[in-house]
Amino acid sequence: MIGRTNGTPVSITGLGCHVPERVLTNAELSTLVDTDDEWIIERTGIRERRIAAEDEALTDIARPACVRALEMARVDAASVDLLIVATVTPDMAFPSAAALLADELGMPDAAAYDLSAGCTGFVYAIAQAHSMLASGLAKRALVVGGDVLSKILDWEDRSTLVLFGDGAGAVVMEVVEEGGFLAFELGADGGGGANLWLPGSGSRKFEDPDKVVKMNGREVFKFATRVMVSSAEAILGECDLEIDDIDVYVPHQANVRIIDHAVKRLGVSRAKTVVNVEKYGNTSSGSIPLALADAADDHRLEPGKLVLLTGMGAGLTWGSALIRWTHDTTGALV
Ligand code: UT7
Repeated sequence: MIGRTNGTPVSITGLGCHVPERVLTNAELSTLVDTDDEWIIERTGIRERRIAAEDEALTDIARPACVRALEMARVDAASVDLLIVATVTPDMAFPSAAALLADELGMPDAAAYDLSAGCTGFVYAIAQAHSMLASGLAKRALVVGGDVLSKILDWEDRSTLVLFGDGAGAVVMEVVEEGGFLAFELGADGGGGANLWLPGSGSRKFEDPDKVVKMNGREVFKFATRVMVSSAEAILGECDLEIDDIDVYVPHQANVRIIDHAVKRLGVSRAKTVVNVEKYGNTSSGSIPLALADAADDHRLEPGKLVLLTGMGAGLTWGSALIRWTHDTTGALV
């Protein structure tokens, strides 16, 4: 799916992010599995990641992010009438994380549901919220992207364990005077789904339903390097824009080698590219909002800037969004 937004402008008016306190370094990981700091940094760029406590679930990490986003946008929780949570690690299959959060935050009038699109979930969710706001169906949206992948990893599998971390971000989305979202491009390829999957987590019976993430890293790497480029090129083409028009490029934070490949192929400068994978690893749906928070704090995400977001992940899925930034979002991380 690809299209320009037309009609009512919608933008991000508040941003909040939160990560668990516990830092897990590469050195610590090398005491758990056969790996080392040098391999992890060279192959992924990751130095450390945050890991949720035993009693911490997705909504515990998402809640402070939501509160901060609402504060930044200066809106009451009760005025939110749409809450979408993009995640593959809700507290449980049902009730949804969104329904739980809407109750805890005090949003009695909100439609609330979870959305599953792997690490691309946040981009899918902002596209949905955009449509509902622009059409007038919803008046004010809160969109969360967050995951606690540490809970579904095989802690003996070095090929996945070193990559992922926990974290969440939330954005308030509202109709604005001008600027905001210009276009979205979203896609999925279920044929490649078994390259990154969680067998035994749903209604399909498997012989060995061990409910831990399984990944064919090389295949996901090939997929990622392809779609990070094709999705970005498609959305720019749709908007008659060139890569040089982009002020800030926010790619999914999975592996610095994937980011470097996209940077080179797209011809975007590294200086315009937001990279924070070294301190959080791949936080799945949390990755893009956490990168936005870092960019804002570095004063790179000012109103007027043209921002390109591109994600990819389980499904397999991919997605891009183009947004003319409208609001000051510094101080998002709490
Ligand atoms: O949101 C999407 C989520 N997933 C991704 O983005 C993953 C995309 N894929 C990747 O990022 C990379 O494929 C990995 C980082 C997972 C792996 O890097 P690679 O350069 O593709 O390594 P490889 O799978 O080709 O493995 C090379 C070697 C293998 O050993 P042999 O067979 O050459 O002896 C692996 O067993 O590295 C070994 N290896 C490790 N060694 C030390 C795999 N994981 C580790 C590890 N520490 N953690």
